[in-house]
This record gives sequence, C-alpha cells and structure tokens, in this order.
Amino acid sequence: MQIPDIIIAVDGYSSTGKSTFAKRIASEFSFLYLDSGAMYRAVTLYAIEHGIISPSGEIDRQALCRALPALDIHFEDTGNGSRTYIGDKCVEKDIRTLAVSDKVSLIAAVPEVRNFIDDRLREFGRKKRVVMDGRDIGTTVFPDAELKIFMTADPVVRARRRADEMKRKGEKADIQEVAKNLRERDFIDSHREVSPLTKADDAIVLDNSDMTIEDQMKWIRQIISDRFSYVRV
Ligand code: DC
Repeated sequence: MQIPDIIIAVDGYSSTGKSTFAKRIASEFSFLYLDSGAMYRAVTLYAIEHGIISPSGEIDRQALCRALPALDIHFEDTGNGSRTYIGDKCVEKDIRTLAVSDKVSLIAAVPEVRNFIDDRLREFGRKKRVVMDGRDIGTTVFPDAELKIFMTADPVVRARRRADEMKRKGEKADIQEVAKNLRERDFIDSHREVSPLTKADDAIVLDNSDMTIEDQMKWIRQIISDRFSYVRV
C-alpha cells in the first residue's frame, strides 16, 4: 500500500480509542506511531515520584521547570505500538495508572511542560510519515498536518472502554471513578489557557460510539483514498 509522506493528527477526548485507531493506521501504512499523551503521563509520573506535585494537586512549578531539560523521555518500538521510557526505565505500565490519570491534566496545563513536549514531538515529525495522537496535534503541534481527525464518542461508552482496558491490564477499575476522571480531564483539557483541546477547523470528526475498529479502518481508507490517491500495490 502506498501513501504520500504526510502527518496524520488524531486528536480528541480521553478514551475515545485514539491510540488503538492511530496504531492501526500506522501499521497499515507503515507510519511511525507516536502517543503524545504518554509524554504528558511520563512527566506526571516523574512529578509524583519526586514530590513536584502534591496529592492535592499543587505543583512546584520551579522544581518542575528545573527538572524538564534533563528528563529523557523516549519510546521503544514493540512492533505493535511502543513502550515509554524515562532514561533506561520502562514506565509504560506506571504511566497508565489512575494515580497518574488523576494528575496528568494539571501537569499538561503548565505552559513550560507543553513547550518541552511540543519541541520533542516536532522533532519526531520532521521526517513525516507519522501518525500522532493527542489533544492539540492538529491545532498546535502540527497545524499544517495533511490529515486531521477529531475523535469523539458517547461518555458512557468511553468510560466502559477505559474500565475494560484497565481490567485487562490487571488494574482495579471502578466504572464511576473512571467516568469521573474522564469528565474532569475533558473539562481541564478543554478549558486550559494554553492549547486547549478543541477541534481544528479542518479536522474531520469521527464519532466511533457505534463503530468497531474495522469500521473505523474502512472509514479512514476511504478518506485516504479520496484525498491522497491511495494506491494498493
Ligand atoms: O491520551 P491520554 O489520555 O493518554 O493523555 C493524557 C493526558 O495528557 C490528557 O488528559 C491531556 C494530556 N494531553 C495533552 O494535553 N495534549 C496532548 N497532545 C496529549 C495529551
């Protein structure tokens, strides 16, 4: 399958299936997949472990800004997505806990954190052929991305999907607690001053409440075929 060298931005609300979709796109078109949320989660994990954010959510902004330049967050390809590392420690599991989900939107609202992560993400995107999921990829990180998708889904469906995912990973998941966390994150992510979660004017909306991943792939193949003369070889 052939597709030109483009950037695909997949933005949207928490737990709308962005990463599953973006990973499938990456694998189908041999693109690099990048999970920008994992970078915010890794910074948050670091902040929790180093007492930079308190249990009640107060951030020591000076300490956070001092720590950022030396924070080596990177990804290792697993063939089906990637694992997140801080230095030589794999933190993939630790960054997905509710403790991190609970604080990540607060950390992601800090402008210095956003600048630090945006710079890294743009480096990854320099060679194009990248599909990146997040909240502001199509609006701020790559406003010129050739294809932008904005994902949404029914809140009840999202909470159930997230709880199922956590259970599969052997974590405790109370559906009410998960739903509350999603509501809070949506609110903070959409109302922060810097790069709030919002649909780019030229993004295509995908509401996947009643769609399987195969339905979504069919949908994107059609769009890619219409827009980029996608050719099957
Ligand atoms: O995609 P995720 O749920 O793993 O993202 C975790 C948090 O990171 C999310 O609540 C908001 C923040 N985030 C962001 O502000 N901008 C991005 N591009 C990606 C994530």
